[in-house]
Amino acid sequence: MKVRTKNTALCIWSDQLATHHPLIDSQHRELLVRINAFVSYCNQPHEFSFEEELEALNLVLYLLDYVIDHFSAEEKLMLECDYPAFLAHRHAHSEYIANLYHFREKFRVIGLDKEMEDYLNDKVVDWLVHHIMEEDVKIATHIENQPPIEYPEDLT
Ligand SMILES: [Fe+2]
Repeated sequence: MKVRTKNTALCIWSDQLATHHPLIDSQHRELLVRINAFVSYCNQPHEFSFEEELEALNLVLYLLDYVIDHFSAEEKLMLECDYPAFLAHRHAHSEYIANLYHFREKFRVIGLDKEMEDYLNDKVVDWLVHHIMEEDVKIATHIENQPPIEYPEDLT
């Protein structure tokens, strides 16, 4: 499998990505670690051996695994606080999972040509960064703005 010679930028954590929800942020950091593990592996400009190809595919699975866990944790949080845009957000999550499956299948067959390199940048890395900055931050804000739980007075 041939890989391209151009490097894909790594995704570095910064305050711009912070939602200020501890669980969401810690899981996002882990997502970036896993995306970067794959991107770094692919940033080696040479023809992959069979073993290296398997390792690269495993790194995509390693990412996919965590993406599924993380999305499900976020969806649970949204349900718990009656997040109004739950369905649209969950739809976006499904789209990303489909992107990753698509990427993995094509990567397995054709490796990283120019088209796949663009796909990796746009649909895997940039998609996630924008989703975090534009959508996940809204969940965290919604949770933050929840009124405190009021317990019924004890009448006994
Ligand atoms: Fe999300």
